[in-house]
Amino acid sequence: MNAVIRSTGTYVPVRRMSNAELPKHLDTSDEWIVSHTGIRNRHLAADDQSTSDLAVEAARKALHRAQMPSTEIDVIVVATATPDFVGFPATACIVQDKLGASNAAAMDLTAGCTGFIYGLETARGFVASGFARNVLLIGAEVLTRHIDWQDRNTCVLFGDGAGAVVVSAEEGTKPTGVLATHIRADGSGARLLERTAGGSRYPFQSGVTAQSDTYLKMDGRQVYNFAVKVIVETIQILLEKGRLTVDQIKYIVPHQANVRIIEAAAKRARIPLEKFYINIQEFANTSAATIPIALAEMQGKHLLNPGDLILTVGFGAGLTYGGNLLRWSAPPP
Ligand code: ACO
Repeated sequence: MNAVIRSTGTYVPVRRMSNAELPKHLDTSDEWIVSHTGIRNRHLAADDQSTSDLAVEAARKALHRAQMPSTEIDVIVVATATPDFVGFPATACIVQDKLGASNAAAMDLTAGCTGFIYGLETARGFVASGFARNVLLIGAEVLTRHIDWQDRNTCVLFGDGAGAVVVSAEEGTKPTGVLATHIRADGSGARLLERTAGGSRYPFQSGVTAQSDTYLKMDGRQVYNFAVKVIVETIQILLEKGRLTVDQIKYIVPHQANVRIIEAAAKRARIPLEKFYINIQEFANTSAATIPIALAEMQGKHLLNPGDLILTVGFGAGLTYGGNLLRWSAPPP
């Protein structure tokens, strides 16, 4: 049984913040941000929007394109590092209720920015086991609520958004859809990217928890070096698994964290940069949402045709990393 991406959908909040707004309260500049990251804009959730709201909008579009009522979804997986609530309830359950997906199981998946890549393999597993015919996989984040807007090392990098795909079972003798996955973790780097307050390690304590403990903190240089290394490694492993050369891949869709990471990995892997789809300039780093947003955007631009080979690759908090090899099967929108 193949597990194929049947449709995509995306949602980014209306509020668009360009780099030009940041120097008003921060010692930074458009020139620094663009030259060091490639980011020009990011979108910010409205005060009354949480991660599930963005996820539902993206999911509705994906379901509409698949011409599928929500009652046909068997499993909902929401990949997110910024759930509506810490631990309970899962954001996926809120999404399930809002969609009226009354026949679906629902769960969140936490793998940092690699969440969507982990999620595609999770969806494939549900389909391959025969448990599910249709899995709704969503990457959704409201990161801008967890960053310190006074910290120039982090706040310029992130944005909010959501992307969704419907993964469906498809019988056939020829492999298609999710062909192979490589996912790994290196927990020794767990503290390189963390938000400490509010969990069981450092629960909120009146008079003890500092405001700064509630913000995302990151060792950017170390994450950068890790990212370049694992992107190259993942691409090589997936090409080997598929017995393919990179020429046979139509697009590599990388996690959008920093254009310089993508450029450095492309150079090290000796792959032309044009092979990598890049849209970080508009959305910044939306963590688990960057890859499904990119896929939906590519589909909207008619860059993906049934039969095309696509490779996703990403890394993130945890540290986690990996990628998927896909044979594209969704019809043009
Ligand atoms: N504006 C102006 N100057 C800045 C800014 C800014 N926004 N941010 C940092 N600087 C300064 C630093 O303070 C430093 O100044 P100093 O030399 O006086 O100390 C100087 O710029 C250079 O700092 P570096 O840290 O060396 O800058 P670098 O070129 O490495 O870029 C960056 C920093 C963008 C964070 C980069 O390291 C990076 O992208 N790392 C990876 C981050 C990442 O991918 N995170 C996402 C992980 S995925 C997830 O799960 C969320």
